[in-house]
Amino acid sequence: MKLLILIMTSHPEFGERTPGSVVARVFEDSIRGRTILITGVSPKSIGAATALNLASQHPALLILASRTRHRVQEIADKIQQDHPGTRVEIVQLNLSSQKSVRQAAADVAALTDKLDILINNAGLFVTSRQATAEGIEMQFGTNHIGPFLFTNLLLPLLRKAAYNTSPGATRIVTLSSAGHRLSPIRFSDYNFTGKPVPPEEEHVKPLQGAFGRCTSDGYNGIVAYAQSKTANILFTRYLQQHLPKYGIAAYALHPGTIQTDLSRDQDPELETAFYKVAPYWKTPDEGSSTTLVAALDPALNEIKGLYLYDCQFREPFSHASDPVAAERLWKLSEELVGETFALDF
Ligand SMILES: NC(=O)c1ccc[n+]([C@@H]2O[C@H](COP(=O)([O-])OP(=O)(O)OC[C@H]3O[C@@H](n4cnc5c(N)ncnc54)[C@H](OP(=O)(O)O)[C@@H]3O)[C@@H](O)[C@H]2O)c1
Repeated sequence: MKLLILIMTSHPEFGERTPGSVVARVFEDSIRGRTILITGVSPKSIGAATALNLASQHPALLILASRTRHRVQEIADKIQQDHPGTRVEIVQLNLSSQKSVRQAAADVAALTDKLDILINNAGLFVTSRQATAEGIEMQFGTNHIGPFLFTNLLLPLLRKAAYNTSPGATRIVTLSSAGHRLSPIRFSDYNFTGKPVPPEEEHVKPLQGAFGRCTSDGYNGIVAYAQSKTANILFTRYLQQHLPKYGIAAYALHPGTIQTDLSRDQDPELETAFYKVAPYWKTPDEGSSTTLVAALDPALNEIKGLYLYDCQFREPFSHASDPVAAERLWKLSEELVGETFALDF
C-alpha cells in the first residue's frame, strides 16, 4: 500500500496510452500565463508534440530552443496556425557546443526575466564515435553536459519565477530513457577511450544481438546512450537535493517508445532489434504525456519521486539514483564545462 502512495500522480488512470493533449487540458492552470522553454523541437519529434500541447492552453511565452532553425520554425509556424496569438520565440541551441549553449542562455535571458518551466527534451542517439566541439563523447556531451550547462545558466530565471509561485510549481524536467538501465556512469572512462573500468562502472553484459555490436574502434552507441541517460537521472537527483529550498522541483522521465528521428542513425538490423523489444510504440502525442505530467501536475509537490514512466512514478535503476554518484557526476560536469555552480546560493 505504501508503494502505491509513493508512485501515483494525481491521475492514477493516466498511463501508456494517455494522449499528451488530454494531460495538457487537465492541467491547463499550470500552463496558462506561464513562461515555458522546451529544447529539441522539430517535425515528428516528442518535442513538437509537447510544444503543440503546451501551446493549446495559453502560455504567456513558449520558447523553443533547438539546433536546426528551419525544422523548429516549421513547428513554430504550426503553433501559430493552430493556436493563433500564442507568443512563441525560437532560440538557436546546439547542445554539442558549449559556446552555443552559453549564447543560447544569453538569448533566453534577453527574451524573459523569468522561466517557470524548463523542459530538457533534446537528445540524440549515434552509433559511431563522434565528439562535441570540446572533444567530449557525443552522447554524454550532448545529452548530459549541454543540458547541465544550459540549466545552470538558466537557474537565475527559474529562481525569479519561483519567488512568485507556490513551492514546486517551478520545474526542471529532463528526458531520460528506460535504456538507462544498461549502463552506469563510467567515471573512469566516460569518453570510451578503452581504459579499463571497475566492475561497478561496467555496462550490463551481455548485450544481445545488434545491441552488442561495436564499431571497429570498440565504440558501442547503445552503451554510450545508456550512460548519457543515466546522467540525466543523476543530474535530476542532484537538483532535487539542492533546489527545493528555492521552490524549484526537478523530475526525470522515460517518454515511452516513439517512432521519431531519434532513430536516424540506426541501420535496419538495429531497427529490427528495437521493434522486437518494444511492446508498444506510442504516437508522438502519447509520447508527450509523461513529460507533461512531470512538468504540470501540481500533486507531484506532495510526492517524493525522481523518475516517471507512463505518467506515473517508477524506481529508476539504483546506479541512476545513488546520491554519491550524483555528486560525483556534478563535479565531473563542472570540470568539463570549466565552471562551478554552487546551488546553495
Ligand atoms: N523516441 C523514443 O522512443 C525515445 C525513448 C526514450 C527517450 N527518448 C528521449 O526523448 C528525447 C526526444 O527525442 P525524440 O525521440 O523526439 O528524437 P528526435 O525526433 O530526434 O528529436 C530530438 C530533438 O533534439 C534536437 N537535437 C538533437 N541534437 C541536438 C543538439 N546537439 N543541440 C540541440 N538540439 C538537438 C533535434 O534537433 P534537429 O531538428 O536538429 O534534429 C530534435 O529537435 C531525447 O532526449 C531522447 O533521448 C526518446
